[in-house]
Amino acid sequence: MGVLIRPLLLSFVLFCLFQTPALAVKKSYIVYMGGHSTVLEPSFADFKARTSSHYELLGSLLGSPQKAQDAIFYSYQRYINGFAANLEEGEAAEIAKDPNVVSVFLNQGRKLHTTRSWDFMGLERNGAIPADSAWNIAKFGENTIIGNFDTGVWPESESFNDEGMGPIPSKWRGVCQSENNDGVRCNRKLIGVRYFSKGYAAFAANHNIQLNASTFTARDHDGHGTHTLSTAGGSFVPGANVLGYGNGTAKGGSPKARVAAYKVCWPPVDGGECFDADIMAAIDAAIADGVDVMSLSLGSGPQEFFGDAIALATFHAIKNGITVVTSAGNDGPGPGTVTNIAPWMFTVGASTMDRDFTSYVSLGNKMHFKGASLSATALPSDKLFPLISAADAKAANASTDDALLCQAGTLDPTKVKGKILACIRGVNPRVDKGYQAYLAGAVGLILANNVSDGNGILADAHLLPASHIGYTDGQHVLAYIRSTKNPVASLTPVMTQLDTKPAPIMASFSSVGPNLVEPAILKPDITAPGVSVMAAYSEAVSPTNIEFDKRRVPFNSISGTSMSCPHVSGIVGLIKSVHPSWSPAAIKSAIMTTAKTRDNNMQPIRDSSNLKATPIDYGAGHVQPNRAMDPGLVYDLTVDDYYNFLCARGYNETLIRLFSDQPYECPKSFRLENFNYPSITVPNLIANPVTVTRTVTNVGSANGGAYKVSVKEPAGVMVSVEPTSLDFKSIGEKKSFKATFKLKTSSKIEDFVFGQLVWSDGKHVVRSPIAVSSTGDQIKIS
Ligand SMILES: *[C@@H]1O[C@H](CO)[C@@H](O)[C@H](O)[C@H]1NC(C)=O
Ligand SMILES: *[C@@H]1O[C@H](CO)[C@@H](O)[C@H](O)[C@H]1NC(C)=O
Ligand SMILES: *[C@@H]1O[C@H](CO)[C@@H](O)[C@H](O)[C@H]1NC(C)=O
Ligand SMILES: *[C@@H]1O[C@H](CO)[C@@H](O)[C@H](O)[C@H]1NC(C)=O
Ligand SMILES: *[C@@H]1O[C@H](CO)[C@@H](O)[C@H](O)[C@H]1NC(C)=O
Repeated sequence: MGVLIRPLLLSFVLFCLFQTPALAVKKSYIVYMGGHSTVLEPSFADFKARTSSHYELLGSLLGSPQKAQDAIFYSYQRYINGFAANLEEGEAAEIAKDPNVVSVFLNQGRKLHTTRSWDFMGLERNGAIPADSAWNIAKFGENTIIGNFDTGVWPESESFNDEGMGPIPSKWRGVCQSENNDGVRCNRKLIGVRYFSKGYAAFAANHNIQLNASTFTARDHDGHGTHTLSTAGGSFVPGANVLGYGNGTAKGGSPKARVAAYKVCWPPVDGGECFDADIMAAIDAAIADGVDVMSLSLGSGPQEFFGDAIALATFHAIKNGITVVTSAGNDGPGPGTVTNIAPWMFTVGASTMDRDFTSYVSLGNKMHFKGASLSATALPSDKLFPLISAADAKAANASTDDALLCQAGTLDPTKVKGKILACIRGVNPRVDKGYQAYLAGAVGLILANNVSDGNGILADAHLLPASHIGYTDGQHVLAYIRSTKNPVASLTPVMTQLDTKPAPIMASFSSVGPNLVEPAILKPDITAPGVSVMAAYSEAVSPTNIEFDKRRVPFNSISGTSMSCPHVSGIVGLIKSVHPSWSPAAIKSAIMTTAKTRDNNMQPIRDSSNLKATPIDYGAGHVQPNRAMDPGLVYDLTVDDYYNFLCARGYNETLIRLFSDQPYECPKSFRLENFNYPSITVPNLIANPVTVTRTVTNVGSANGGAYKVSVKEPAGVMVSVEPTSLDFKSIGEKKSFKATFKLKTSSKIEDFVFGQLVWSDGKHVVRSPIAVSSTGDQIKIS
């Protein structure tokens, strides 16, 4: 009997041995250990010791330091302490128990979220630069260093020419990482490039996705990174245009800043493009390199701060005095869509400027609609063509709904040929709809918003003559098609229109509050131009990013909060040039409290459905760079204030250690209401009054100033401020005040209501938005 059992047992054991590795799926994780203990100038030996300690820590779990070395693909050794490694789920759970490890999370993929805009913001006037322009005051952002975390850079772009630039600032410690003969060269403008692909590659390998390793360079094969980097800090380039439209001098917000590209975003795999392990490594490197401003036009859904790699990594930047500017996301206009919501981030929404690229649609029934377009080709403007709805042009094997959206393979070319095709926005990209119309033989495209997009329209470089119109106008087009046997339409050639009104209008795609993680912090913080922005582009791709499209453009017009974010990064660069000692919070406060909430008709800023927009859409309002240089007062914050904020949100000492290098003792008395943010949100005002404390620092006149308060109360809310005047004697002096909020009646406020609190000395106007609700704290996610 024994003899029989033994071979059976042995084969069972072998079965298990051979099956285990195949069953245990590895995933890439970030093992986060907080910060490194502060050493002023860490030596090479220090870095080596830090990495060895990571090998030892993981090695003790995996059985040998060699196994750990194989598993670890990043050892974060400068500011961020921790590593990224391929681990089995059980191993990840086990390492999380180590007392040196503060948290372990999956290497998650994020998504990526141009130059009339500076004229619109008053930095120039019809090409001339007025004396009070922040550009003059800040010497065009001379010598600030802006780091951009994106798809890399097209280094040959004229926007990165270094004509007239002095030597590279001596504090710069970055490199120009150029391998594989892809020829990325740096100069005195583009002073550094690095690329980070290990987290991306690890994710792809664990999902059995084949990647082309020869494309791992800092060169931009997408266009997004070149566009955002040149928006923040591009040099002056006369005669820039997109396919002939919008001709003028292109330039970034800080035209004389130095720029550095950190490539962390790659062609999408499973919906992720920019992976946390890479973003963390890039931010760690950029702090050490010496950047002054970080610009991140990427993100994913809102996340609690301790589980969010970008929130954790950027906190290290803030501790080192670096301002971090992020995009709010393109998931609007539905509520609660805003992302990058940590209070140390500067979160930017998107709105229009006063320039339109216009193509009019005319119908056979004499109706006319203003649409947006950047099509390079045009139809004869007075000629009517047959018009067909994409639903009526559906292929036999396609559904009406898919055809109406002009998705691939849904259109019948025999029905479309020679006609103007009407498609509805949604699901597939707008330029893809143009491509499908082109493939089916259409002569033109009318692209209409569906109801969720309202009336916000965007100019795209379609492959055929096209016009993008709003929802209401689109309904008229469809009704006209239904009303007649032989519908006809025409499209006018594209015109560049300036000084259009009203502007700004909030973009329909711009993600909006409330802040689902911490409703007491208003997000987004600000809005800036993000619709049809013209800036430099990669010449590795076409303006539509469709492979079939063989056109190449040095400049392109694109839209997104990805485009508004670097506008603010450029403006931060200007303030940094003038006020090098200001904290990130002071710079942010200066930009927020000087923002405007009215459009160029002097009416309240509207949203894309023509309703009044609110601070939930735009935070403090639309950025005004000239005013931001001299805000008068700032609401400042120290690193300890951020710890207190986290304490007040219920973070215990273990969680605080995620952010701090040393143990931090939470003060018992600190309340969230008193966190010194430049906007004021009371999310839970019920029967008892709520009092908030704020402290302002005089950064205006050396001989002080007498500031008086004025308040616009939110509907149904009584606001009293104490004291009502603040007298400053010197620069740097701080004064505190209290604002008490009380419901006027016993009925609760179901939605948010808005007001403002303004301090003014007659010269400066320091404005904070107020947002109040009785139920705003019930919408938290955890
Ligand atoms: C990989 O990318 C390089 C550079 O873009 C290209 O030349 C090459 O053909 C690609 N190889 C494959 C297998 O796709
Ligand atoms: C753009 O403007 C420049 C300078 O005014 C001019 O020389 C150039 O021809 C213009 N280009 C286009 C395409 O309009
Ligand atoms: C319909 O058939 C055509 C031709 O076979 C094909 O190319 C297309 O993808 C199909 N469309 C759908 C929606 O299945
Ligand atoms: C409208 O657009 C949204 C967002 O792209 C999409 O999810 C939805 O399916 C579209 N609705 C219609 C009726 O096409
Ligand atoms: C701190 O909070 C975390 C998350 O809620 C919890 O897992 C942990 O046990 C807490 N630690 C202490 C010391 O209370």
